[in-house]
Amino acid sequence: MRMVDIIAKKRDGHELTTAEIEFFVKQYTDGHIPDYQASAFLMAIYFQNMTERERADLTMAMVNSGETVDLSAIEGIKVDKHSTGGVGDTTTLVLAPLVAALDVPVAKMSGRGLGHTGGTIDKFETIPGFKVEIDIEDFIQQVNRDKVAIIGQSGNLAPADKKLYALRDVTATVNSIPLIASSIMSKKIAAGADAIVLDVKTGAGAFMKTQAEAEELAHAMVKIGHNVGRRTMAIISDMSQPLGYAVGNALEVKEAIDTLKGHGPRDLHELVLTLGSQMVVLAGKAATLEQAREKLLEVMHNGKAIEKFKELVAKQGGDSRVIDEPERLPQATYQIALPAKRSGFVTSMIADEIGIAAMQLGAGRATKDDVVDFAVGIVLHKKVGDAIAEGESLLTIHSNRADVDAIKQKLYDSIVIAEQGAAQQLIHKVITE
Ligand code: URA
Ligand code: CA
Repeated sequence: MRMVDIIAKKRDGHELTTAEIEFFVKQYTDGHIPDYQASAFLMAIYFQNMTERERADLTMAMVNSGETVDLSAIEGIKVDKHSTGGVGDTTTLVLAPLVAALDVPVAKMSGRGLGHTGGTIDKFETIPGFKVEIDIEDFIQQVNRDKVAIIGQSGNLAPADKKLYALRDVTATVNSIPLIASSIMSKKIAAGADAIVLDVKTGAGAFMKTQAEAEELAHAMVKIGHNVGRRTMAIISDMSQPLGYAVGNALEVKEAIDTLKGHGPRDLHELVLTLGSQMVVLAGKAATLEQAREKLLEVMHNGKAIEKFKELVAKQGGDSRVIDEPERLPQATYQIALPAKRSGFVTSMIADEIGIAAMQLGAGRATKDDVVDFAVGIVLHKKVGDAIAEGESLLTIHSNRADVDAIKQKLYDSIVIAEQGAAQQLIHKVITE
């Protein structure tokens, strides 16, 4: 088999065989196909697309390019949740203990944040003592015993994806539905998921800027899941404004605690119930999404969800007193209000700009080696659709430096107040097989 023939076949719009796709992935991962051929091939896929069968084959070839996590020692159906990334997205911190409180096993492998979106691992590490570098046997044991454990991403999952993603980044081939869908699904499957719930974000803060693109990606991933034997569901949710009120690590932990206790921000609460219901159904712990939602509300209200979070924190070495005394979390020195310059309704809060402002305060990494300041960030007091009076605080900046004038200006520039405004719809669509 010659790579040049495979490139030509795809360039001319023909369907590749399983063997051809496997050949490319294996040989490229092993360094036997040069970047220039891989680049040409990716560009051919970009223009010619892939059939459903090709997408499934590409996904599984990338899964098989490295180690896979074997979760078969854990009883029950392991459901993983994946979000395409957003600003202030605290859902994993809430969902993991929440569904575990209903005996859904959650073996969560997560990453650190880069750019304007935060990482789940960073948020857990905000809790003093919390350890995410645990070994895989302990991780599996903990899930079997307590139903939930969190571990940092291990090095060698889907190495083909890692190498291809880096190449796509510099060859203008990131933005291709078959390539994105197979990339995301390969990592979830390599991490051992039996079933997958996808939260595909759309809007300014999201990877997919329009709802049509987000839907196309969601359908592509649900299809791949189905074709490779992993039950998969997806929702399309709004990321034009940040999720909840808090953006920043410790601030989001506190928001997650409130949400587990049943009094989180309305949008985060709703998103958690929507995604959580899908997880509970996929895990076979409820027959319908409605029944699942009722069960989730019950454990929020009877305290089982927050108890599960407390147990998780304690089991992973963290100080579980933060749950009842959130002031034990890292706190910023300065809390600076941003007063509204006029009265009216908030009509937009551009999520990615607010995410970047939080990153500039130190809440995120601009490059891989930056050190995160867990304490800092932004707490919104208003969301799109809310009324505000001139002089009333729009948000509070939590900072460890006093001079935040440039950040204030950036925040003013990313928030629009007008005569009239309506609340932003959160869940655009639910997509099932
Ligand atoms: N996220 C991924 O993991 N892969 C992509 O291709 C795009 C976004
Ligand atoms: Ca939030």
